[in-house]
Amino acid sequence: MSVFMITGATGKLAPPIIDLLATRGDRILLTSRNKAKLDGLAERYGKVGEVETAEADALDPISINRAADTAVARFGRLDGLIHLVGGFAVGPLFRTEPAAYEELWRSNFLSAVIATHAVLPHLGEGGRLVYFATPLATEPLPAFSAYGAAKAALLTWMRSIAHEVKRKDVHANAVVMTIADTEDVRAARPHLDFDHTISPELVAPVVGFLTSEAADGLYGSCVPVLNKFEFSSALAGPPPGRGGPPGPGGPGGPPPGIVT
Ligand SMILES: NC(=O)c1ccc[n+]([C@@H]2O[C@H](COP(=O)([O-])OP(=O)(O)OC[C@H]3O[C@@H](n4cnc5c(N)ncnc54)[C@H](OP(=O)(O)O)[C@@H]3O)[C@@H](O)[C@H]2O)c1
Repeated sequence: MSVFMITGATGKLAPPIIDLLATRGDRILLTSRNKAKLDGLAERYGKVGEVETAEADALDPISINRAADTAVARFGRLDGLIHLVGGFAVGPLFRTEPAAYEELWRSNFLSAVIATHAVLPHLGEGGRLVYFATPLATEPLPAFSAYGAAKAALLTWMRSIAHEVKRKDVHANAVVMTIADTEDVRAARPHLDFDHTISPELVAPVVGFLTSEAADGLYGSCVPVLNKFEFSSALAGPPPGRGGPPGPGGPGGPPPGIVT
């Protein structure tokens, strides 16, 4: 049994993560700035001494320090942070105001710094820190400059602090994922190839892994959870099996060694 604080617990990715940790017997403090949504979570998952909620703003050191103290007071100790706080915006450079860069930098990067500061003093010898990013942090695409840069800052920071905290056997790692496959996304963007999106139910077991002894060898890893997503380029031709001139190993043909 371990004790985790989940920041951004009111978001889309949280429910299956909460389910998984609660089912394996972990104790969890769910935090968010939104009392109404937290009350909803308390109704669905709340159990005194097992899964509890606390209002907290991950960008406010006093508020999030208080939440970390609350986790220790309620459950007797704290073993890690699952930091789901984040923000998103898309738009070309000339239509992205500096304020949007600042907002994404604060929600995606600075919130992680502040929440980690709050949790670290409680971890003692050993702990798990999990952050969430995007492949756009390392392979940027047009119109994602603010989001990609903020997540790139998060990943670089995570890999740096991972070296520091590993001395105390604290594991800092990140999940790197494409768009979550949710009902809202399917309604808003029906044209997407949903093989390239990832359901929150498939992200949760990876978080379970990163917060378990099975991930004891991972310090500063960026774990890709991308479903069948791939970057494509006209230079490579169509993917194997999807049109183009046939022939083993050639563009559009089956991979070498596969006889069709
Ligand atoms: N969903 C995706 O497609 C996707 C893809 C790649 C990476 N990710 C990353 O995965 C993480 C979780 O994603 P998600 O889809 O669950 O996110 P989400 O649904 O947008 O929820 C994020 C949560 O962060 C909190 N939050 C947002 N801005 C904040 C701020 N300035 N200060 C404090 N809290 C703030 C919000 O909680 P309150 O408003 O209740 O406090 C919200 O519930 C995020 O870091 C996201 O960037 C998501």
